[in-house]
Amino acid sequence: MFDLVIRNGIITTHESTFSADIAITGEKIVEISSPGCDYSAKRVYDAEGKFILPGLIDPHVHMAHPFQGELSADGFESTSTSAAFGGVTTILDFAIQWDKSKLLTEVIEERIKAITGKCNVDFGLHAVPTKSTEESIIAVNSAKKYGVNTFKVYMVYRQQGRMVDDAILSGLLDEIRKVGGRLLVHAENVSMAEFNQEKFISKGLTSSDYFPLYKPNIVEAEAVNRVLFLNRMAKSKLYIVHLSTKEGLESLKYAQDFGDNAIAETCTQYLTLNKEVYTRPDGHHFICSPPLRSNEDIEALWGGIAKGYISIVSSDHCGFDIRQKNLGNGDFTKTPNGIPGIEARLPVLYTEGVLKNRIDLNQLVALTSTNPAKVFNLFPQKGSIMPGSDADLVILDTENEIVLDPSKLHDATDWSPYSGMKLKGFSKATILRGQFLIDNGVYVGGKGYGKYLNRN
Ligand code: URP
Ligand code: ZN
Repeated sequence: MFDLVIRNGIITTHESTFSADIAITGEKIVEISSPGCDYSAKRVYDAEGKFILPGLIDPHVHMAHPFQGELSADGFESTSTSAAFGGVTTILDFAIQWDKSKLLTEVIEERIKAITGKCNVDFGLHAVPTKSTEESIIAVNSAKKYGVNTFKVYMVYRQQGRMVDDAILSGLLDEIRKVGGRLLVHAENVSMAEFNQEKFISKGLTSSDYFPLYKPNIVEAEAVNRVLFLNRMAKSKLYIVHLSTKEGLESLKYAQDFGDNAIAETCTQYLTLNKEVYTRPDGHHFICSPPLRSNEDIEALWGGIAKGYISIVSSDHCGFDIRQKNLGNGDFTKTPNGIPGIEARLPVLYTEGVLKNRIDLNQLVALTSTNPAKVFNLFPQKGSIMPGSDADLVILDTENEIVLDPSKLHDATDWSPYSGMKLKGFSKATILRGQFLIDNGVYVGGKGYGKYLNRN
């Protein structure tokens, strides 16, 4: 007697698509058999011929992210509920060393405590050192005992105290080669960004129209190129977050063709939204770093995915609501950076990617589940549908077309960058470790069911 059997579905992994029944006991998939098998179970779910995907992993999520003394409206519970509606069963959030008097390990410990019991999907953490001292390098080894082996650094945001300098960047890459892990980098050239910002402020040109001009493609591309070179010299492991430019992609291709261990994610927004939005009256809502780009960049990124240079698509979800987005009265230098998108990632990628023949459904699984599981040390527990894996599953509804209405989403913001888009590919059911979180479009999961994932 199994706990749950899912019949009549089409299992869709990163490499194959086949009809099968799935038997689950407790938190695990225990058997996969040909359709029509005579399993008996406490609950039998009829998937009605729909595609069954491994639970999505979003490796780049900011919950309750600070800005000017407050936190983004979207906290642990609301972001993770929204994640579940988006078919996401695992998220990776950030333990950022905002308070430099604390050791990175203390920051990690506090973040795990803060999230545990409030998160409805499984979660892990990337640690973010912010000090340009040896302490940041030493922390790489110490973080291991908390199950953290990925570190993110900012090459920008010097005035906010988040940046580490190139010596530390290089030292972190060296240390990671020695003790394992991977360095995630937010690559933007700080001097160019600061210079441009001062120039626009002095001329009073601070409306959102000027935001993409303040950080044009070269701001990202130069920093990507620089950190790829540092990684080559260190022979380490690099991950470029939110790659947005065709020039950055060119440097990445060069590094990968050379044989460097350098991989990249892009985000849903850089594949689907154009910088023209910054000229709209609500243009400042779309402020995120790096900025949204041109159609040429968008097509180059899809090309980078098709050729396998870009291996992951995350959301970089950071849910500020409209009041928070308006805090700077439209001035891009005073507007919180970041946009929501964890719930829309699956239908937007399905509609813009699969239905437009830019990727197939197996590639969608690879980009949003299997590759993140492999890169972030979660495979095959996560990112796969096979006996022994966690029973994390998404039943995909490919029929209903829905015009995205932000009021129907489940994060704590009151807008969406994808508002008004006609989308297919929402989750009909999301299952985490054998428990239904979403059933027929309704949240049925318990509160705080998500558990912390040790990724060593
Ligand atoms: O603009 C972005 N990407 N915001 C996310 C949060 C941050 O500051 O890293
Ligand atoms: Zn981010």
